Amino acid sequence: MPTPTLLVTGGSSYLGHYLLPAAAEQFNLVAACHTHPQNILAGKSVSFDLTNQADVRRVITQLRPQAIIHAAAINPGQGDAARMTAVNTEGSRFVAQAAAEVGARLVHVSTDVVHDGHHAPYSDDAPPAPLNDYGRSKAAAEAAVLAACPQAAVVRISLIYGLSRMDRGTAGFVQRLESGQTLTLWRDVLRQPVWAESLAAALLKLVNLDFAGTLNVAGRQVLTREEFGRKMLAWWNVDPAGRLESGRAAGKYNSVPLDLRLRVERAESLLGMRLPGVDEVLETAPANRLHGQF
Ligand SMILES: NC(=O)c1ccc[n+]([C@@H]2O[C@H](COP(=O)([O-])OP(=O)(O)OC[C@H]3O[C@@H](n4cnc5c(N)ncnc54)[C@H](OP(=O)(O)O)[C@@H]3O)[C@@H](O)[C@H]2O)c1
Repeated sequence: MPTPTLLVTGGSSYLGHYLLPAAAEQFNLVAACHTHPQNILAGKSVSFDLTNQADVRRVITQLRPQAIIHAAAINPGQGDAARMTAVNTEGSRFVAQAAAEVGARLVHVSTDVVHDGHHAPYSDDAPPAPLNDYGRSKAAAEAAVLAACPQAAVVRISLIYGLSRMDRGTAGFVQRLESGQTLTLWRDVLRQPVWAESLAAALLKLVNLDFAGTLNVAGRQVLTREEFGRKMLAWWNVDPAGRLESGRAAGKYNSVPLDLRLRVERAESLLGMRLPGVDEVLETAPANRLHGQF
């Protein structure tokens, strides 16, 4: 049997940094990017613009992959509401329509930010109620994907972090500190950060399962944004030098969902794997580092 072909969109993303090397071990990998081909670490690379339906359809119908992991998106701070709708919602619809056309298994990467943060802990199939443009574009993407491709797996994830490349959130904190500004981290915002290595493994397992619908994939451990930020800064040996403050988002940033605890029992049982929390990952990290894995 020939090795199945997997197309990963957003191959040049932060997630792609961890996902592509693992995917290349199992699949004939094709990684799609938009503007950063240099960030593609494994597989054959292709480029398309998700806002161009003809382009998306051409790439997918010519390649005819057995599976697609759709990870590309505009994240908060990377574009306005119209751009988020065009890339995240419409682009996801184009990918799902083309996946349906060629009969590809589709695993779509969504977010915990589809929720409003007032009804945690969220079950896998909790209906979205987004508070901000990004959440709205991703919630609409989920609906568009499942309408075009009802057998797709839609994976709601939390903040992604890895230990060999700094996550975007921590990188932003470092930039702020380096420019001499004070950094305020929220003690009333709850998240379940997901280790990029376990997220990559979970997405690849989902490719080979016939699960359809929404599934939470996040780390087991609930942390405040402040706790998580401090742990990551410590991992990267960044000393805030007295410029880190604890603050509250409530009442000031109404578009930030406060409590995004997710239930992950179903994912752990379906995938047959543990989704370790941040402390567990960090505790085993020194040994991994010693063995050259980071
Ligand atoms: N990072 C997190 O903590 C987090 C949390 C929850 C959910 N997610 C979701 O996880 C996925 C990966 O996130 P990430 O943070 O790893 O992404 P990222 O590093 O911000 O990268 C975004 C990716 O999307 C691609 N892209 C953007 N606009 C495009 C367009 N018009 N056409 C084609 N590709 C386009 C980019 O390609 P180029 O760079 O080549 O232009 C890049 O590969 C996304 O679906 C995101 O919504 C992320």
